[in-house]
Amino acid sequence: MKRVVLAYSGGLDTSVAVRWMIQEWEVEVVCVLVNVGQDADTSESFDDIRARALAAGALECVVVDARDEMAEEFCVSAIAANALYEGKYPLVSALSRPVIVRHLVDQARKFNAQAVAHGCTGKGNDQVRFEVGTHALAPDLEVLAPARNWGMTRADSVEYAMRWDIPIKATKEKIYSIDENLWGRAIECGAMEDPWATPPEEPMTLTRVRSSEPVELTLSFLAGVPVALDGVEMPLATLITSLNLRAGSTGYGRIDMVENRRVGIKSREVYECPAALALIAAHADLEDLVLERDLHHEKARVGIRWAELVYDGMWFSPLKEALDAFIAETQRHVSGDVRLRFEAPGLMRIVGRRSPMALYDYALATYDADDAFEHADSEGFVKIYGLGVKTWAARQGAKNATPPQS
Ligand code: ARG
Repeated sequence: MKRVVLAYSGGLDTSVAVRWMIQEWEVEVVCVLVNVGQDADTSESFDDIRARALAAGALECVVVDARDEMAEEFCVSAIAANALYEGKYPLVSALSRPVIVRHLVDQARKFNAQAVAHGCTGKGNDQVRFEVGTHALAPDLEVLAPARNWGMTRADSVEYAMRWDIPIKATKEKIYSIDENLWGRAIECGAMEDPWATPPEEPMTLTRVRSSEPVELTLSFLAGVPVALDGVEMPLATLITSLNLRAGSTGYGRIDMVENRRVGIKSREVYECPAALALIAAHADLEDLVLERDLHHEKARVGIRWAELVYDGMWFSPLKEALDAFIAETQRHVSGDVRLRFEAPGLMRIVGRRSPMALYDYALATYDADDAFEHADSEGFVKIYGLGVKTWAARQGAKNATPPQS
C-alpha cells in the first residue's frame, strides 16, 4: 500500500484530508505537525491536535518542534536580506513552508513513504512552495494535493468530518483564513476581501493596542544576526516572541496591502508582524552605518530579488543559494546596537544606532571646527564629475531649460 506523509495543521481541511486520502486513494497516511511558532495563541495543545489526526485515521502523527530552526536559519536569512516582498510583506508564510517541507521529506524517508501531501487549494502560493520545495529536496517523491481534487465546499467538509467522527473544533462557518508562525500572522477572507473595507479588529492578536505608554528598546546585532534585546542575550526565537509582545502592544506591525500572488491573483492581505518589521528596520538601519556605498546599493537590489524568490517558493534553488552567499559576505561587519521607539497607535522610529564597525566618521561629517574633510579637493572632483554634462549642454542642450513664464 502506498504511504503518504501529510503536512498536518489540525484544521478542518488537513483533518478531512487524512480520511479522504485513505478512502479515495487507498493510501496509508502519516501526519507531520511542524511547530513553527503557531502555538503562540492557539487554545489547543499539540497533543489535542495529534489526537485528532489519529482519530481521522492517521497511522501516526509526528510532532516536530522547529521553532529554533525557523528562527536561526530562516528568519536570520530574511533579516540579512531585509526581505520585504513588494516592499512590505516580511514573508511570514513563505518562510515557514520550506521549514515544513524539509521535515516532510525527512519523515517521508523515515517512514518509507512514496509521496508527501499538503492541504492547500489551487489558488494560493503555499501549494507552489510545498511542491517546488519538495521536488528540490526529493525529486523522486510524488506530491499530492487532496484539497485540489475533492471538490468539497467548506460545508461538505464539515459534514464529511462529522460522518467520520473526526473531532473538529468549530463547526460553524469559519470567517477568516489565518496562518501564523514566529514571524507573524497572515489574515485573509471575511470583510477583508473588499480591499476598500477597513480590516476588522476581531481576528487581530499581536497588534491590538494594549498600552498607550511608549516603548523604547535596544536591539543588538552580531554579523547581521540579532543577539540581544536591551542588552540581554537570548535565543532568537525568544527574542522574536518577546519583541512581538512589546512592539505589538503599541499597535506596531500591522500591514494592509494588495499583493501579487505567484498564481496571477491579486489579493488583499492583512498581516501582523511587529518583530519581523522591527528587526528588519533595525538591521537595515545598522547597515546604513556600516556598509560601503556601492555594496549597500547592490545589496538592496539583491534583497528585492531574494524576497521574490522566497515568496515564489524558490527557497531551495540555485539562484537563491547564490544570493545567500553574496548576502552572507555583506554581513561580516553588521554588528552594533539600534535604539527603537514605539508609540501607540502603531508608530515606530529608530532614534539611535552605533557600531564598532561604523563607517560614519565624525571628523569627515562634522561642520564644526574638528572638520578634517579637505574642502579644496572637491573643486577638481566636481568639475570632472560634471564634465560630461557640461559638454552635452554646450553642444546639445537640455530640454525644458526655461521655467514656465507666468
Ligand atoms: N499571502 C501570503 C503568502 O502567500 C499569506 C498566505 C497565507 N496562507 C494561508 N494558508 N492562509 O505568503
